[in-house]
Amino acid sequence: FGLLKRVDAHLGEYLSKKSRTKESFSDNCFSKSSSNSSIVTDEGLFEQPEPMASNTAIMEKILWRRSLQLHAQQQAWQESLEGRGILEFRQSLPAYKEKDAILTAILQNQVLIISGETGCGKTTQIPQFILESEIDFVRGAVCNIICTQPRRISAMSVSERVASERGEKLGESVGYKVRLEGMRGKETRLLFCTTGILLRRLLIDRNLKGVTHIIVDEIHERGINEDFLLIVLKDLLPRRPELKLILMSASLDAELFSSYFGGAPLIHIPGFTHPVRIHFLENILEMMGYRLTPYNQIDDYGQERMWKMSKQAPRKRKSQIASAVEDALRAADFKDFSPQTWESLSCWNPDCIGFNLIEYLLSYICENERPGAVLVFVTGWDDISSLKDKLQSHPILGDPNRVSLLTCHGFLASSEQKLIFEEPKDGVRKIVLTTNIAETSITINDVVFVLDCGKAKETSYDALNNTPCLLPSWISKVSAQQRRGRAGRVEPGECYHLYPRCVYDAFAEYQLPEILRTPLQSLCLQIKSLKLESISEFLSRALQSPELLAVQNAVEYLKIIGALDESENLTILGRYLTMLPMEPKLGKMLILGAILNCLDPVLTVVAGLSVRDPFLTPLDKKDLAETAKLQFSRDYSDHLALVRAYEGWKEAEKDLAGYDYCWKNFLSAQSMKAIDSLRVEFLSLLKGTGLIDGNATSCNTWSYDQHLIRAIICYGLYPGICSVVPHVQHNEKSFSLKTMEDGPVLLYSNSVNARESRIPYPWLVFNEKIKVNSIFLRDSTAVSDSVLLLFGGSISRGNVDGHLKMLGGYLEFFMQPAIAEKFQSLRREFDELIQNK
Ligand code: CDP
Ligand code: MG
Repeated sequence: FGLLKRVDAHLGEYLSKKSRTKESFSDNCFSKSSSNSSIVTDEGLFEQPEPMASNTAIMEKILWRRSLQLHAQQQAWQESLEGRGILEFRQSLPAYKEKDAILTAILQNQVLIISGETGCGKTTQIPQFILESEIDFVRGAVCNIICTQPRRISAMSVSERVASERGEKLGESVGYKVRLEGMRGKETRLLFCTTGILLRRLLIDRNLKGVTHIIVDEIHERGINEDFLLIVLKDLLPRRPELKLILMSASLDAELFSSYFGGAPLIHIPGFTHPVRIHFLENILEMMGYRLTPYNQIDDYGQERMWKMSKQAPRKRKSQIASAVEDALRAADFKDFSPQTWESLSCWNPDCIGFNLIEYLLSYICENERPGAVLVFVTGWDDISSLKDKLQSHPILGDPNRVSLLTCHGFLASSEQKLIFEEPKDGVRKIVLTTNIAETSITINDVVFVLDCGKAKETSYDALNNTPCLLPSWISKVSAQQRRGRAGRVEPGECYHLYPRCVYDAFAEYQLPEILRTPLQSLCLQIKSLKLESISEFLSRALQSPELLAVQNAVEYLKIIGALDESENLTILGRYLTMLPMEPKLGKMLILGAILNCLDPVLTVVAGLSVRDPFLTPLDKKDLAETAKLQFSRDYSDHLALVRAYEGWKEAEKDLAGYDYCWKNFLSAQSMKAIDSLRVEFLSLLKGTGLIDGNATSCNTWSYDQHLIRAIICYGLYPGICSVVPHVQHNEKSFSLKTMEDGPVLLYSNSVNARESRIPYPWLVFNEKIKVNSIFLRDSTAVSDSVLLLFGGSISRGNVDGHLKMLGGYLEFFMQPAIAEKFQSLRREFDELIQNK
């Protein structure tokens, strides 16, 4: 009841705040005119220059004069020494040869699709061609080109490149805008932004007033945002007949897009790359003194390819790493060297064969190969950071006088980002560890060697079991070819695929589009916030529509968590969630944390759920690592353990001892730093919603208590809930877990709750369930009945009935009808309390 009172008090504050911002939720709330709205959105950066005079004739004169100025500036630059050099470089790019054809096609058609090999100049040149031709036609001051990129890092790096090619500073005629960051001035005519930013602009301005050209880049990646944007743009085109849409793709499946846009014309830019020598695993092993020979064996099912492993005399003295790889190979049963065997062998963690192979090859290249940068593709940020840690302790690879070891991934800060493009000092070899971001969207010029692990982290989603997973999975053949192509840009290159040829042969041709393999909750919220028609109807018009069941699951989930009401309209909570570009469950936690003035720990929990698990468990020190984790886990909660670990790290950082602290406690310093910067980012996002004061640096009015955080976690993770069933057998205490949908479930062994013999709470809320052979729960927090009652589902009025039904269902399912009844009456009382307030 103490908790109830506090919730009550703060909910009052929330509701009054809400009524202050109520206007901003009225029908035309997202229109530009609502300037007194307390909801701050990103649109400011898109605003058109203020008209300087109301008289149109004068206005036109001013614009005309500006266009002439732009024209003169460009000419002067192109005639300067530096400008001439850059122009020559630009003219050498394959895209330049197609300049006239492209500009004519744009003039004659509303939609154009351009494909061309990575590095041929699509992203940097085509937007410039348009800008230049507009300037030439003295329309330069009125044109407004938006070019979307799937990732923030490419929007930033490309805009900088284009500005420098034009001899300007960023923010003059070329700018960029990504979430929470941007550089754009009044004179900006070409804006690179993430797809998400353009979608948010559509939220406030459905007709994209003033925009003359939209370029959607990297459409071959088939990201969910891009597919969504294409549906919206397809609807927009008839309403804005003068708007031009240009789609750009690195691969040749452009026909699909052409037929989607009613047979829009295609232009292909023929490219040129140097030959790249390919090494598969069998060739790499041969380098190390092994021979892996394929032989065919006929079995009952037809022909199957098997592998035989034999030892050759080692060519030279084996390094330590070579023998580590050898041990790992010997441990595997090579009689059946199929894709599956490799799957189980090549788990990408520091102790495993994958990392050892990378280390071996890198040191081999550094010692024996000609100069040239090395690009190493691994699966994600987690792998990049642990691989970097591992390589840094290597005598050659960790020596900054010989090797410049860099990373390239989505979270990269702009200062770090520049280093990837810079030439290293003489005698120093550049090695860049990257995710698939460098596959097509980023071009590093001097790469000669590529190492490809064959995997990328991608979400997959099983609509039937309604269970999402984010796991490294095999890439497609097209991706493997793209990765390979990165080695042949400046001279003939070498590509080491760290898997056997048979695995490559089993790759799918193209990757499944994201819209078909991810849960659609965030997408459905976005559709609703654009006030579009019914969700399933809208999605049926996608390039490839997702399964109906997946759509239904998403809508159902959004109703349960209170983001949509029964008739699929956005609730107040839902509107706030659309302003937070993250999973709805994380957004919910932030919102309630802000309302209840208990934000600090919640920011940590949410940031922690967005990065790699900071608790490390090295295989050979598992016990020590588990004991280290135990000191943080007093509360039957993985989330609270993380909060404690982070706070300890933050204290240690004050004395510059953060690294030691992580080392002692088996924590990943990289993850801690990532959490630290995400916390700042999330705080600014929350400020953007108007839920907290724009000047606030912290939002804790009382020193938080763990019960309140538990409540907030429950609010976010519901309906991810399972019941704890205690057992006593031969005086031994234990417990089992079950969920309503799956029956018995298990905890991941690294959960703090997995080590308890008893959990003194009736419920666990969990972040994620993953199906392996049984269903496993990752990251759980124990909660009490009352917390579940008050915070499971949504506090927003509209959903109370549905929520009670659901909760009653849970309680009855778990055979506690009497408690169910008591709770329902309590909940009603609580609700009346809020109502009267
Ligand atoms: O978009 P696409 O892959 O077709 O190529 P791009 O990104 O427009 O790059 C064209 C060329 O510009 C690349 O081949 C690089 O040589 C160069 N470039 C660069 O040097 N630095 C950058 N930050 C971006 C591109
Ligand atoms: Mg590009």
